[in-house]
Amino acid sequence: MTLPTLVFSLPGHEALGKGIATALDVPEGALTVREFPDGETYVRGETPCDGRDVVLAANLFQPNAAMLPLMFCAQAMRVVGARRIILVSPYLPYMRQDARFQPGEVITSRIFAKLLSQTVDGLVTVDPHLHRYTALSEIYSIPSRTEHAAPAIAEWIRSHVDRPLIIGPDSESEQWVEQVSNLAHAPHIVLSKKRRGDRDVVVEVPSLDAWRGCTPVLVDDIISTARTMIETIGHLTRAGYSAPICVGVHGVFAGDAYEELQRAGAAKVVTCNTVPHSSNAIDLTPALTQGICHLLKPTVPSQGTKESTS
Ligand code: R5P
Repeated sequence: MTLPTLVFSLPGHEALGKGIATALDVPEGALTVREFPDGETYVRGETPCDGRDVVLAANLFQPNAAMLPLMFCAQAMRVVGARRIILVSPYLPYMRQDARFQPGEVITSRIFAKLLSQTVDGLVTVDPHLHRYTALSEIYSIPSRTEHAAPAIAEWIRSHVDRPLIIGPDSESEQWVEQVSNLAHAPHIVLSKKRRGDRDVVVEVPSLDAWRGCTPVLVDDIISTARTMIETIGHLTRAGYSAPICVGVHGVFAGDAYEELQRAGAAKVVTCNTVPHSSNAIDLTPALTQGICHLLKPTVPSQGTKESTS
């Protein structure tokens, strides 16, 4: 008899783990993680894994703080007998430094991918920022599964927005904006953007006269400083359009970006629950569950296969 998979959660990520365990209808395992007085971390695996595959819920949207506990917890699971460890991180960080833009820069996406590939045996995530890389398998050596937010975003738009015009802020957004637009049966346009600094972006908006009367819906993968969306809102409102609805897959919201976006005139800000935030309105647990089930299929080898997408 095959023992059921166990779901473990990194401290602070229990809601993600519980949602996955419930959706998969499998038990949760326990880890003890605490801090020694000197700030170092103590980790103990409490639930024997007895050769089972395990799922580790650890959302890496604050990667620097989460990475060391993740490495210790993964090792604890191996100590108590885990066979394969499938990491579920709905937001995959360190994907945007995908090239050396200035001499001497470190391509952190590659280093992070190597570290994670040495830590776990499989990865499930949602719409990682694939720009110069075409697939995670270019930098991750473990099997991975990329789930897509577009179907759930399109469903949300269909049921909440009257006459939507889907707007992607830059050429990178075309991949998901086109899919959302097809699934929502709505027109779309893609703008062009130049980033001059962390908080300095310039967006060019063409004439939108053909879409007067539509509700603008900005769709982007990541909202970080929100400068991309704020700049676009400025163009739209100056051109006399109604306040746009802003939809982000990953609402990272650096500093007070969320408040700034609201102040800039967004009619509504909606995100998927890949990064916990009060704007979460689109649940991607079913997509994550589908990705986990795919990676847990016995036919998937534990090392080095190509990434697949659903
Ligand atoms: C960039 O290429 C991404 O697709 C997003 O447009 C970007 O991460 C948004 O960043 P921010 O909110 O800081 O403008």
